[in-house]
Amino acid sequence: MMRRRKIVMGLIAAAVVVFIIFQLFPISNFNPEMAFPGNPLVDAQFTWDSAQTEQLVRAACYDCHSNETRYPWYGNIAPVSWLVYQDINEGRENLNFSTWTIREIEVDNLIDQIEKGNMPKPIYLPLHPEANLTAEQKAQLVAGLRATFDG
Ligand code: HEC
Repeated sequence: MMRRRKIVMGLIAAAVVVFIIFQLFPISNFNPEMAFPGNPLVDAQFTWDSAQTEQLVRAACYDCHSNETRYPWYGNIAPVSWLVYQDINEGRENLNFSTWTIREIEVDNLIDQIEKGNMPKPIYLPLHPEANLTAEQKAQLVAGLRATFDG
């Protein structure tokens, strides 16, 4: 009995040590995709077809596809931060509403990703219920993206 308790305490102590080491070593030293993305300057502002479209895009896409990311507190704690930062860096490379010009936006691809359920990324939804769009909101977003970028 005593022995099992010692083993459990040892495992907990090891986990704490590993957690602390995670905080000390930014993984970005090894993988730049996991560096803190921050919020660089916003230098594109689209004229959305309606306030509703803008609100839906902001709720569902902006955290990974703009320079106006809202960072949750747990998003800055390793190892979660590594995954969050990677999503933001890769997301911005693929589509950035804060820097891209209207000609760079491939509206068919955006809509395709939404309709297939690829975007917003499913892993993001449990902690971001506002991005978990209903079928009706998805249809409104798709129509709004067309009206904004296909015009
Ligand atoms: C949690 C972060 C996150 C959210 C939220 C998010 N995306 Fe993405 N998106 C990514 C990442 C990461 C990639 C690049 C890797 C990939 O395709 O999975 C990407 C890629 C894309 C691409 C390029 C895909 C391709 O293969 O050509 C499009 C288009 C896109 N996203 C649209 C959207 C739209 C529209 C929304 C909102 C409805 C959205 N995304 C929400 C993270 C996100």
